[in-house]
Amino acid sequence: MTRIRAQQAPFPRARADVMASFVFEDEKLRKAQLARLVSRVTGIATQLKAGWFRGKEGETLLLYPDRAGAARLLLVGLGPSEGFGLERVRRASAAAARWARDQKAESLALWETDPEILPRLASDLGSDPWRSLGEAMAEGAILSLYRFDRYLSKEADHREVRDLLLLSENRGRARDLQAGVRRARIVCEAVCLARDLSNAPGNEIFPDSLAAQAKRVGRKHGFAVTAFGAQKIRQMGMGGLTAVAQGSDQPARFIVMDYRGGTRRSPTVVLVGKGVTFDSGGISIKPSANMSEMKMDMAGAAAVMGTLQAAAQLRIPLRLVGLIPAAENLPGGSSLKPGDILRHLNGKTSEVDNTDAEGRLILADALAYAGRFKPDVVIDLATLTGACVVALGHVATGMMGNDQQVMDRLRLSGEKTYERVWQLPLFTEYEKLIKSDVADVKNVGGRWAGAITAGLFLKKFIGNYRWVHLDIAGTAILEDAGDYIPKGGSGVGVRLLTYFLQHWERDS
Ligand code: BES
Ligand code: MN
Ligand code: ZN
Repeated sequence: MTRIRAQQAPFPRARADVMASFVFEDEKLRKAQLARLVSRVTGIATQLKAGWFRGKEGETLLLYPDRAGAARLLLVGLGPSEGFGLERVRRASAAAARWARDQKAESLALWETDPEILPRLASDLGSDPWRSLGEAMAEGAILSLYRFDRYLSKEADHREVRDLLLLSENRGRARDLQAGVRRARIVCEAVCLARDLSNAPGNEIFPDSLAAQAKRVGRKHGFAVTAFGAQKIRQMGMGGLTAVAQGSDQPARFIVMDYRGGTRRSPTVVLVGKGVTFDSGGISIKPSANMSEMKMDMAGAAAVMGTLQAAAQLRIPLRLVGLIPAAENLPGGSSLKPGDILRHLNGKTSEVDNTDAEGRLILADALAYAGRFKPDVVIDLATLTGACVVALGHVATGMMGNDQQVMDRLRLSGEKTYERVWQLPLFTEYEKLIKSDVADVKNVGGRWAGAITAGLFLKKFIGNYRWVHLDIAGTAILEDAGDYIPKGGSGVGVRLLTYFLQHWERDS
């Protein structure tokens, strides 16, 4: 990962190949900001006039100051002050960082935006504005520079942005920016871990290697990780996980990550992540177009691993348990078949109508297992249904659950981090769609309300605890890149949950 730190420095002296400054679009604001730049950076006045810079979101203009000691100056538009907030800061930083990389700059300095005006315009800066700003600037820059290029041979002129600097003229503000940088560095590293795990192909990440990765993360960050093997999983009574894995030569794993922060009286949160390392659909096989995306059907597991890493590094005072049922869903001579009836860990049975609705079958066992920790809250993350992508596209995560207070906290966390969630109802009228004649529940509900019937299926297996289900099918796997999210695995969930875990206790 890129090195990043905040520092005090006298404007415009930046020890970097390029420095960037953010400018608003509103005419009055823009003119004042640019006039200030012209008065302090020599030699840019005519360039600026010729450049027609308007400050639109994502717009950039490069200026060449004529005095030594000042790097090239990149102006980056912030858009209008109306609707301005931390997300625009992330995007502007991302634009600067991507520009720097495209120009093969190896270091980039981001100047704090005019200290008098910026905090006045953003409504979501909170009680520690410079910290929040530092965090958002760092997040946008770091996350936009992520690439999954481990399998690419490097070209001779390959360059990465190796150093990022956040600069302030004021010592106190630089210190606050640095506090934000510190958190962002930890969180972004965890997001990138989740992205790497998601993007890694199925021949690299399968249940056993996923378990090995979890153990590596646990060892590095000081929490316990155990992985149950196929035999133990079967003996315990996890009929869903056993059945989904049985068509593959790769045996199932059930991964338990246990981070004990805080004291013995601290609340317990269990996170459950769907870990289907490849989903072909099984006997109910998927069409081959885009089937390769289903190497990312363990994005929920990746988000859980990333969140545990971040929580441990941030020393969040909670007991945090991560549960990952891991299996590969393949067709074969010993595969699970439509019509099969399974018995899950809590004794309930399910009828398999479609082997491609495998996620809920393995989550059923994990959610039943979660009860053993007497959790205060259980949150599951799963790339569970195509129906959720139809409903919400790639913009919002689908949210369902049995506790409105926790869901409200998650919605707020979604707005703060811009990993937004949107609630869908679990009305009892939908339940008849998954009624089975031969088992306690059927694993598909037909054409309508597919994200909801999946949620209702899971609800049959939860214990006596508060529970929220997050369907990340649309937000974890992206067809197009965003400003600071590449296409492919987004790492969604890590920033959302880390924020939630750091803040939820305050009024719950
Ligand atoms: N992993 C898929 C869901 C999915 C689809 C995730 C597209 C990301 C993008 C899941 O296992 C699945 O196949 N679900 C089926 C359920 C259906 C058979 C009831 C689906 O959504 O088609
Ligand atoms: Mn499936
Ligand atoms: Zn799946």
